[in-house]
Amino acid sequence: MRPRRTLVIGLAVVAALSGGATTTAVAGRPASPPSQDSTLRALADRHRLAIGTAIDVDALDDPQYRQIAGTDFSTVTAENVMKWEVLEPVRGQYDWSQAEKFMAFAKSNDQRVRGHVLVWNNQLPAWLTEGVADGSITKTELRGILRNHVKTVAGHFKGRIWQWDVVNEAVTDSFDATDGRIGYKGFWAQNLGPGYVADAFRWAREADPKALLFYNDYNIDAFGDGGPLDKTQFVYDMVRDLRRKGVPIDGVGSQAHLSTRYGNYSAFQLADMHLRFAKLGVATALTEVDVRNLLPETQTGDTVNPLLQAQAYDYAALLQGCLASRQCISYTVWGFDDGRSWTNTWDFGSGPGREALATIRDASYQPKLAYRALQAELAWAGPPLVLPRVTQPPGR
Ligand code: XIL
Repeated sequence: MRPRRTLVIGLAVVAALSGGATTTAVAGRPASPPSQDSTLRALADRHRLAIGTAIDVDALDDPQYRQIAGTDFSTVTAENVMKWEVLEPVRGQYDWSQAEKFMAFAKSNDQRVRGHVLVWNNQLPAWLTEGVADGSITKTELRGILRNHVKTVAGHFKGRIWQWDVVNEAVTDSFDATDGRIGYKGFWAQNLGPGYVADAFRWAREADPKALLFYNDYNIDAFGDGGPLDKTQFVYDMVRDLRRKGVPIDGVGSQAHLSTRYGNYSAFQLADMHLRFAKLGVATALTEVDVRNLLPETQTGDTVNPLLQAQAYDYAALLQGCLASRQCISYTVWGFDDGRSWTNTWDFGSGPGREALATIRDASYQPKLAYRALQAELAWAGPPLVLPRVTQPPGR
């Protein structure tokens, strides 16, 4: 009996050290039975899954918004106020005020922060893009400017960020791929070449060694045919190569901006993405989930109700896919109320605001079917197949 007992204790220690005991004690029954009144945060805690939302800092002045944002979620992302154009509108003059308002909110609610974003082609300040366009900023100087930005921003928030989106949306889509294959796109690749991606991760690690460093992108929800136009495959190969070179990348964020007008993924396809990235040794996260509906010209209950059901399916399938992998550590929605969603004004190809009703609550903050689907999925998933998330330490 003795050796056996040692073995059992040994296994328990290994399970505890690997960040998630496999016993049902952790992901077992919650203290009280879940109901429609349970918050997403409480339901997700049982899986050690962080559940998050993007925060519109101006909306924090609305008490109802503030209350829901503070209680329903365990992680938050700044929707805009950590972007370069907001942080450094004038060259050399950083303005941290809005970002700090956001950080204070997260702190007061004991929420972990996804930092968004260190390097992106969009929402750059005019002094930077115009300086490069008119030649007053040289390419050599530009690399120094990027290094300085990554170090300054990651350094400023050092120790306060759980996951950083270090590089965002660096590669083309199948529809805008040149030469029939996915490649690097945009301002940074054009001016510095693709090597900036590895540089950015190294600079971020130097500035904040405890943050998990993520590559973040859209249309990487599931693998396609593995060919030259498969964006998920391209990102997979990129991450694999970065890891082989010892570049400090800890995770891949799939934004998951979906629309019910396109074909649905099955939860199996979505799970496969998480499981395959996990095998590379990186965590995954769903970072900007929303599911748009192409609104009919005349909106009635008959036309909108099926859309809301299709939307609920996508929200739930994305969550099932994440729960299938213990390395999928957070599920963040890109805003939680239809009244404020960016989809109300963005043009997704059919005119601004034509694809909307994308969030989990209506414009009066009432939970939609998608919200109930998330609650139910979180409430009833569990061992033996859904196990608590594995705690991720920053890697190399
Ligand atoms: C969006 C914001 O939600 C809008 O308010 C802003 O006008 C444009 O950017 N991918 C990203 C996010 O990584 O930063 C974008 O956020 C949505 C797409």
